[in-house]
Formats: sequence, C-alpha cells, structure tokens
Amino acid sequence: MTRIVYVNGAYKRYGEAAIHVEDRGFQFADAVYEVIEVLGGRLVDATRHLARLERSLRELAISPPMRESALLHIIGEVIRRNRVRDGIVYMQVTRGAGPREFALPGPDVLPTLVVFARTQPRGRADRLAETGIVVKTVPDNRWERCNIKTVMLLPAVLAKDAARRAGAREAWFVDSSGTITEGASSNAWIVTAKGVLVTRPLGQEILPGVTRATVMDVAKAEGLRVEERAFTRDEALRATEAFITSATNIAMPVVTIDGQGIGNGLPGPLTRRLRSRFHQMAEISAV
Ligand code: PDD
Repeated sequence: MTRIVYVNGAYKRYGEAAIHVEDRGFQFADAVYEVIEVLGGRLVDATRHLARLERSLRELAISPPMRESALLHIIGEVIRRNRVRDGIVYMQVTRGAGPREFALPGPDVLPTLVVFARTQPRGRADRLAETGIVVKTVPDNRWERCNIKTVMLLPAVLAKDAARRAGAREAWFVDSSGTITEGASSNAWIVTAKGVLVTRPLGQEILPGVTRATVMDVAKAEGLRVEERAFTRDEALRATEAFITSATNIAMPVVTIDGQGIGNGLPGPLTRRLRSRFHQMAEISAV
C-alpha cells in the first residue's frame, strides 16, 4: 500500500496528495514517467531509467523539475517512508499547470513532479513466471513517437483490456506490415529454433526498454546470440520460446499467443536463464 506521495515539494498522505485541476498532465497527457523496480530497498538500473527520463523530457522540451541528485534523494525518501523492500517506485513529470491552452506555456509555468512507491512482493511475478503468460495481438494504433515514455497510454489501456477479455495478460501490438512492435507495457522477444534471441531494433515504434537493454547484457554474458530485427506474428507463433521484458516483469515467459501454444507450451529454458541471471547483471544501487 502507498502511504506517502511526493507532490511538488511536499510529502503528502496518499488520500490527500493532489495536483491542480488544470495540470497539463491531466488535460493533455503532457507528461512523462518512469517505473523503477525496487529490490531489497535498492533501485534496479536507476542510471538507465533516469537517463531515459531525461531524454523523454528533452524530446518534449519539458524542463527537468530538479537535478538528478535531488530526484534520487526524493526517490529514496519515498521508498523509506512507504517501507518498500520489494516493489516499484513511480515518478511522473508534467509540463505544469495553467489555464487550458494548447500552445506551450512560458517559462513561468513550472513542471509538476509526483513520486510514489508501492510494495509488490517478488513472489507473485516469480509464480507467474513458473507457468508463463498468455498474449493477444492487437493492431498498433499508437502515435509515431513511442520511443518517448509519455503518460498518453489510452491505446495501451484499451489493448490490455481487449487482452484481458480474451483471457490474456499482455497485448502485443502488430503494425500495418504484420510485424510485432512491442507489448502494451513491455518489449516483445522470441527465440528461434536455432536459439537466437530476436527483438525489434530501437526506433520510434517502440520504447527503448531498460530491461530490454539489461537482458541484452545478460544474453551477451551468457554467450547467447541476439538479433535486433522485426519479426512477424507468424514467426512468433512458430518460435521455440517467447517472452516479454519490463521493469516489473523482468523476463516473463509467454506460452500462448492468440490461442496457440509457443514451443512446447511451457516457459522456455533460455527465458528462465535470462530471468534467473537478471539481477546479477543489473545495476543495483542504494538510495
Ligand atoms: N512499462 N514498452 C512499453 C510500451 C512500456 O510501457 C514498457 C514499460 C516497456 C518496458 O520498459 P522497461 O523495461 O524500461 O520497464 C516497453 C512500465 C513498466 C509501465 O508502464 O508500468
């Protein structure tokens, strides 16, 4: 449970934390965010997450609310005040509040910063990884700047809902040429019959996942081959393994796509290996 939330300079009780009704994050989704895994009270891959936050802000010309060291201090404080050992910390920066106007505001409008943390026992994800998850594919109807981590998540919300109604846990977006771009809130991977890991190359169609980058480091250390190229839904259905990566899922096996079993229908050995080595390779930092 979240007890304390940081909002614009103050630590507020969860039920009382609030932003302005004319915050641009609320009205225009004019905001970016990050989700960082907390493991044993420490941050997983903070450097990569904070670098991506800075890049997202730069892409949209939103002023950073503070220096990185100050943000890290707040993140640590929020984790401690919520007594989170294993879970996540969420941070969101919006362009700020002001009378509703499409045009960007002047420099007098200051960005809004919200940070909260939540306990998510690792056991739950680990149990899920024992059986693997089901994926449903849906058309990718998002914009052309998916490499920026904005809170404009309605297509992902609706895709997840379509997945849930079909008995699936994650949705994989398919572009107009039939290739998988990424998951609604994860990056998508398959393993070929030759044991090659395949994931889409970075570009505007996908978020440059931090977990994706660290899984690549793990793969390299394990002597596994990684090909960064687009793959089709048909190729995914013929794959020997499939999995998703995200801060909350690490490497999570996908055992069924659109009702069809992948490989032998069980979590694959390479996915298990990547998952089990992940935290040895990731940057784990005290905060
Ligand atoms: N989602 N692609 C999309 C569209 C995502 O929303 C996410 C993360 C990822 C994986 O990125 P990373 O490995 O850096 O977590 C890929 C977060 C966890 C969320 O929205 O909750």
